Amino acid sequence: MPSAPATSPTHGTITLKVNGEKHTLPVDHRTTLLDALRERFDLTGTKKGCDQGQCGACTVLLDGRRAVSCLQLAVAAEGREITTIEGVAEGEQLHPVQQAFLDLDGYQCGYCTPGQICSAIAVIEEHAAGWPSAVTDDVRPEAGPPPLSAEEIRERMSGNLCRCAAYVSIVQAVSRAAAVHEQTTRSGQTPAAEKGAAA
Ligand code: FES
Ligand code: FES
Repeated sequence: MPSAPATSPTHGTITLKVNGEKHTLPVDHRTTLLDALRERFDLTGTKKGCDQGQCGACTVLLDGRRAVSCLQLAVAAEGREITTIEGVAEGEQLHPVQQAFLDLDGYQCGYCTPGQICSAIAVIEEHAAGWPSAVTDDVRPEAGPPPLSAEEIRERMSGNLCRCAAYVSIVQAVSRAAAVHEQTTRSGQTPAAEKGAAA
């Protein structure tokens, strides 16, 4: 079948900012962000599990908030900061959540772990910003963030499934990374310095 022209009712050129770098590329408007990341950018850390928003394997960060990339069109991500698992570390320095997963044996298979880590990064920010979850007892703004208990972590991470149900270490890792985040936020350190605080 002949390929469609660069600009047509179904095709156009978009600019995406992925892991800090801008790329302009022609796309079929129906391309999901997940497919664009994997097939156009070769960023295969983001996995396609269910392809219908149910497993969390494709989770990335959009403007710092987590999103299942299989339910996003690439064109809708134009102008936003897209961060994939390949972009969360700073050079050789792991993100504190990655480090906690490593230290506490939270790493699982390559299928679910990238989404778990992207989710956990946003969970910690959401919690620190005072966002309640479905299991938060007191949701009044003045009540502040609830303790990030195992129940809270499980609820907030519940969109990320592991077929093997090996979640125990993940809860511990998220808890550790959240404590590091709180400590370093209080002391005014940069995220890059959080790893040192974890040691
Ligand atoms: S692949 Fe997107 S949620 Fe499962
Ligand atoms: S370890 Fe990845 S799906 Fe269970």
